[in-house]
Amino acid sequence: MNQAALHKLLSSKKEGQSLNELFELRFSTNLTLIKDLFFSLYPEEHYRPTFEKLLKQLHELFKTRPENLKQLDIVRLKKGNWYQSEKLVGTQLYVDHFNKDIKGLHKKLSYFEELGINFLHLMPLTTRPEGENDGGYAVNSYDQIDKKYGTQKDFEKLTAALRDKEMYLMLDFVVNHTSNEYPWAKKAMAGNKKYQEYYYTYTDREVPDEFEHNLPEIFPETAPGNYTFVPEMNKWVMTCFNNYQWDLNYTNPEVFLEMLTNLVNLVNLGVDVVRFDALAFLWKKKGTISQNLPEAHVLTSLFRMCLQIVAPGSILLAEAIVAPTDIIKYFGEGNKTGNECEVAYNASLMALLWNSIATKETVLLQKSLTTIPQKPKYCTWINYIRCHDDIGLGLDDRFIHEMGWNPQDHRKFLLDYYCQKLDWSPAKGLLFMYNPKTGDGRITGSAASLLGLEKGIEENDTTLIRESVAKIIMLHGIILAFGGIPLIYAGDEIATLNDYSFLKDKDRKDDNRWVNRPYQNWNIIADLDKKDTPQTKVFFALKNMIALRKKHPFFADENNIELHRTNNNHILIFERKGEKKDGVLVICNFNNTREVIDGGFLEKLGYLKNKEFKDLITAKKTKLNSGFLEIKPYQLVWARKMD
Ligand code: GLC
Ligand code: GLC
Repeated sequence: MNQAALHKLLSSKKEGQSLNELFELRFSTNLTLIKDLFFSLYPEEHYRPTFEKLLKQLHELFKTRPENLKQLDIVRLKKGNWYQSEKLVGTQLYVDHFNKDIKGLHKKLSYFEELGINFLHLMPLTTRPEGENDGGYAVNSYDQIDKKYGTQKDFEKLTAALRDKEMYLMLDFVVNHTSNEYPWAKKAMAGNKKYQEYYYTYTDREVPDEFEHNLPEIFPETAPGNYTFVPEMNKWVMTCFNNYQWDLNYTNPEVFLEMLTNLVNLVNLGVDVVRFDALAFLWKKKGTISQNLPEAHVLTSLFRMCLQIVAPGSILLAEAIVAPTDIIKYFGEGNKTGNECEVAYNASLMALLWNSIATKETVLLQKSLTTIPQKPKYCTWINYIRCHDDIGLGLDDRFIHEMGWNPQDHRKFLLDYYCQKLDWSPAKGLLFMYNPKTGDGRITGSAASLLGLEKGIEENDTTLIRESVAKIIMLHGIILAFGGIPLIYAGDEIATLNDYSFLKDKDRKDDNRWVNRPYQNWNIIADLDKKDTPQTKVFFALKNMIALRKKHPFFADENNIELHRTNNNHILIFERKGEKKDGVLVICNFNNTREVIDGGFLEKLGYLKNKEFKDLITAKKTKLNSGFLEIKPYQLVWARKMD
């Protein structure tokens, strides 16, 4: 039982408890855990007064929480794991690229309602430096809306409207770094020692050089190394990402305390899910790669346990794009189980799906997914195909070996396949941050362009177009059916191609992730039901699947997923089991030829009756063909259990 479940139990026990009483109850329930977490990072002999300050601060922070959100917190708390519901379907978007600004987005809420989307991840909206700012991930403030998006009032109106419509909001908390224009950074530059200790600053290269032996480079092409010299303060500062993003020094407990206030101010804007950006990087230690360290987990859990007292209706998403066995740890282990992040990006599934598209095989996907340990009961995934970032090849070398492939060669093949090095490949992606020292590289590009639609249209190749549309639909059908919150990247619902306009922008041209951050095309959307285009096909197929997902409780994430192996290496099959023998079998063909599955297999699982099976997606019954189920190239089936 995790802490949230305890709070649920305690708050439901007695009727009529006031909001303050319930706060005190949560405070006492989490206190011992908070004490242990805090003192394990910041030893009691030095930091007892800081701990006492934290306890006082939690009370002060609760006073700042708006009354209506306090009420909503209790509703959520009593309901429990609302984020595992089949009713949630999300999208991720840049407000300015979507429809100009916050008001523009507000006007388009009906678009989401039509499609069935009720969960929005809005990319950073707060103030940031002019010019380069990593798409707003270099923050000048954690809660002040940048005027290019509108006013604080516009945002308040938007969040109120979202709550009215029972739509959920996710925003980023850039927890690992601030911009070099953040007030603390400015004071540090002006020579203020207190604020220099909010970051990792050094007068010489001794410590930085020792760290550099083991630290990888995130942006080797544009921001090599992990330290930046700042002439204003005549010091080096740690900058793992871009040189204008200064890493926060969490060995200093004052940083934790202040960032907790920033976090609460952010959720007080009406945020339901907080995306903990780059949290794997939160703790640094010499001699290590300084990612996924145990202290980063303690710190995350400490944030979680404190936020749960103040704002129990808001949950955390781990943005840890790391190895499969490392991601799962962000749900918490030991006494942190279920007390760290409720949600994590399923980056493993994402990378494995792209691997399966390129290889046309599902063996690596099967092998890897079946060995990932079961997640805790109260936790869930965000399942996605594309997002605003690059695709990293977070595959497990061990399994690549077991396939009889050489991991380095295999990664090279994937980069070549997606980044236009192979004539026969339909993909039109770009190579991102290739590091010749290590041979590592990542991939950018929109889903549609990576899946062949761009090339198909250019070459007027109807087969390529047809196949790319089927692939787009199939991959979305997988994330919609796989347990967790599906997150459809804005534009993918209308098969948006790569956007090359970033090449003309001096602040963006060196970061080709902008190729997959397109402007929403409202002309295409206006014509959707008038034409039979690839965009129309994708849009209506997604809309249909979203509605079906919401109708069937077996799509809720109850850890009720089972992967099945057949002897066909091109097929992926997984089952979502519902109550009372109900369920759905998801079947996909990753090959560009017809594949078959033995009917006996479906019969044994209970998905056949009189040699027929029923597909939820087409709402049709299909007969087997001489004992076999035939699956067309890139076809997706959601077979419903037959009673
Ligand atoms: C996350 C974001 C990415 C950003 C980085 C640094 O990985 O998704 O876009 O560059 O954090 O904040
Ligand atoms: C970091 C993030 C990852 C992102 C990358 C930006 O590695 O963890 O999400 O893709 O930065 O390119």
